[in-house]
Amino acid sequence: FDYMKRRKRWSRYPPGPVSLPFIGTILQIDFHNPHVSFTQLSKKYGKIYSLQNFWTNVVVLNGYKAVKEALVHKSEDFADRPFFPIYKHLGYGELNQGLVMAQYSQAWKDQRRFTLSILRDFGMGKKSLEQLVVEEAGYLCSVFSSKEGQSFDPHYLINNAISNVICFLTFGNRFDYEDKKFQSLLHYLELSMKEEAGLLPQALNSLPFLTHIPGLMQKAFCHQKKLMDYLGELVNEHKETWDPSSKRDITEAFLEEVEKRKGENSSFNYQNLPLMIGDLFSAGTETTTTTLRWGLLYMILYPDIQSKVQEEIDAVIGRNRSVTLEDQANMPYTRAVIHETQRFGDIVPAGILHRAYRDTEVEGFFIPKGTTIVTNLSSVLKDETMWENPHQFWPEHFLDANGQFVKREAFIPFSAGRRICLGEQLARMELFFFFTSLLQRFTFHIAEDHPRPREDGCFAFTLVPQPYYIKVVSR
Ligand code: HEM
Repeated sequence: FDYMKRRKRWSRYPPGPVSLPFIGTILQIDFHNPHVSFTQLSKKYGKIYSLQNFWTNVVVLNGYKAVKEALVHKSEDFADRPFFPIYKHLGYGELNQGLVMAQYSQAWKDQRRFTLSILRDFGMGKKSLEQLVVEEAGYLCSVFSSKEGQSFDPHYLINNAISNVICFLTFGNRFDYEDKKFQSLLHYLELSMKEEAGLLPQALNSLPFLTHIPGLMQKAFCHQKKLMDYLGELVNEHKETWDPSSKRDITEAFLEEVEKRKGENSSFNYQNLPLMIGDLFSAGTETTTTTLRWGLLYMILYPDIQSKVQEEIDAVIGRNRSVTLEDQANMPYTRAVIHETQRFGDIVPAGILHRAYRDTEVEGFFIPKGTTIVTNLSSVLKDETMWENPHQFWPEHFLDANGQFVKREAFIPFSAGRRICLGEQLARMELFFFFTSLLQRFTFHIAEDHPRPREDGCFAFTLVPQPYYIKVVSR
């Protein structure tokens, strides 16, 4: 009877392209642009379809309706993450410890609760963090200022500034932009994201025995290893100088928790600390940097929109005082431009993989426990049934007829549900402060002595702009 029931359920398993022996459906996916393949396949197989990555069953959810049903209405059913053997060699263990890739477990709950409460203590959405971000935006502006008259690629400067916010939260200090160690940290971070894109990591995750090929992991993921080793060193330095009565940053708060829970079998242990810190770095630096890079790119490509943002800044803040969080409420246009940057820039187009925590259903399709789930965020941010001009940069998506800011349901660049981005509030605050401070001080132009910037991105887990050059003029 059970067998019959199960067969009946499997008959409702989502359709999909024919799976070939051994390789499954991998030829259907361009792993250098997976979100594009995912959206194309949905035209043929519907919003919910299945793929097979070698031996792994994958279901892809497309469009606002399907993604919302899964992530919001059936939040727990989709709260798990697949196991990634490629992380094992970095020390993530059998359960993918850390936070971003941690399986849905007590350890994940503890770490998520801990990190959120620490971020709150340190002032996420409060004055102290606001000051820190404003100060960092000031450093960034002075470097931009020194480049006036030259063409330059703003990528690494933005990256330094954004990363410094995470550095401050995790280690209690910022780095000088010229600092060599800091440069290598950011370099490793960037390359380690690239190592995760493409077919090889997919193949290794589906066929874990390949990870035993001598030398392969060391070679394919050498920058991830370097990054983790380096963060491990920073954590150790911090551990050595830590005065247990002090709790100035996330590392110290974590160390305090380790002491408190000694003897318990908890995820607050020395092995997990660098993994946690590594997760905050990789989740928080690249995404926010990339968003801001898209933001400046759109400003030089759409100078009329840039002028309108500046008019609003001049009217609400003026040229002399610093931006405050309260200003946001009076700046609907600027907010709309930042939101549209996140929507159209489509920074995490294919989301982060989820896994079905139990047998479940979406729109009547059966999804068995353990299935790998792709939440195609790009298909939601550009859902043709939800947006007026999905394939155009159009800040009016977020404005009503009176020019007031409006929230949109299908705006989910941070995903949704139990695994929603933990840094959403921090990221939004950073984007507002950095973007507004920069446009308050400068007007940005295309650098005429370089090729015209392109509007299409390049996928390396995040969708990043192609390198571009700008010129700044002080206002
Ligand atoms: C997860 C986007 C900034 C920390 C995520 C996810 C997305 C995302 C799409 C996946 C959610 C899912 O699994 O469904 C973004 C964007 C950002 C940003 C677009 C910037 C504009 C940050 C920052 C931090 C951060 C600044 C640092 C505090 C995390 C963490 C997770 C996560 C820890 C994993 C949450 C979990 O698995 O429980 N983010 N993020 N993010 N993000 Fe962000």
